[in-house]
Amino acid sequence: MNPTIRKCCSRWLHKALAALAAAAALACCASCSGEPEASNTLRIGVSLYTLDDTFISSVVQNLERTAQEAESHADLKINLSIVDGRSNQTTQLEQVDRFIARGCDILCINIVDRTAAAVVVDKAQEAGVPLIFFNRQPVDEDIRRSSQVYYVGVNAQGNGTLQGRLVLDAWQKDPASIDRNGDGILQYAMLEGEPGHQDALLRTEYSVKALTDAEVSVEKLASDTANWNRGQASARVSLWIQEFGDQIEVIFANNDDMALGAIDALKEAGISPLPLIVGVDATAPALESIAAGELYGTVLNDADGMARSMVDLSLALWSGSDPSEAVNLQDGHYVWLPYRKVTQDNLSEFMTP
Ligand code: BGC
Ligand code: CA
Repeated sequence: MNPTIRKCCSRWLHKALAALAAAAALACCASCSGEPEASNTLRIGVSLYTLDDTFISSVVQNLERTAQEAESHADLKINLSIVDGRSNQTTQLEQVDRFIARGCDILCINIVDRTAAAVVVDKAQEAGVPLIFFNRQPVDEDIRRSSQVYYVGVNAQGNGTLQGRLVLDAWQKDPASIDRNGDGILQYAMLEGEPGHQDALLRTEYSVKALTDAEVSVEKLASDTANWNRGQASARVSLWIQEFGDQIEVIFANNDDMALGAIDALKEAGISPLPLIVGVDATAPALESIAAGELYGTVLNDADGMARSMVDLSLALWSGSDPSEAVNLQDGHYVWLPYRKVTQDNLSEFMTP
């Protein structure tokens, strides 16, 4: 997060938490998880599209840590009830019903199927519970169905463009090190995330557009979905190696896990040097791979900022404060997190000691 934003949020948070602590009553009610709780407890129901996802697990870890930090500022308890949607929209809708029935104050939904958002909005609105979608972006029309609906995420077009620029920088600096067949054309392969996910569609399009806009000639050798998954990416790339040998010059992966899967397959096939490989997320294993000189670069998908914004926004909505004082709110509904390129040059800024 931009330091100015963070400073302003923490000042706001301090004020809001102090007010909440002063007002905290001792009446009891049921928590999201069904336990009785004092009314100075903020109950947040969080449903994930799946827990079996490196980036989403990191958002969860950050949520837990941020909630603890907020609690330590005041006499306040944040009860996070986190459930796994197991990639099943019906399961997730049941979880939403349960959260509402148990009296959650806020719903944070990482929706399984983006096209099912309207149903969740209607359930939340009927129950009068504010709703925050994150990471998996519903269409704007669904977000605007109610004034109490928000989206916290990263602009997919922007981080796709930055991913393309990582490759563009390397190509402009030393084209010979990338252009294996010396034809002046950049031969690439694309590992796509889950079909229909906004990040898969837009990263795929805008990463390549950053090169063509700069008048670099490109040739797509192969592209396929690997559903954000390392194992699936490794299997796809093994097939591509059979077809193209070492002639793939660049591999774009819509996320880091798939980039790491590509590296697994290339190493297994003994391809050296590796082609230029780029991901998105800046997960811990991806940062290690950059340090080891295998992954060329990635684009930060700010799991920490996402979690912070969700907690700050939840606190504001719960306490009846103006949400735009708590987070950088755009168009009344959206919190867009900043993104950055990560390579060996600035890696130390992203590694936690
Ligand atoms: C991340 C992926 C993740 C997906 C889940 C994307 O923004 O880059 O790593 O699997 O979100 O929805
Ligand atoms: Ca070439």
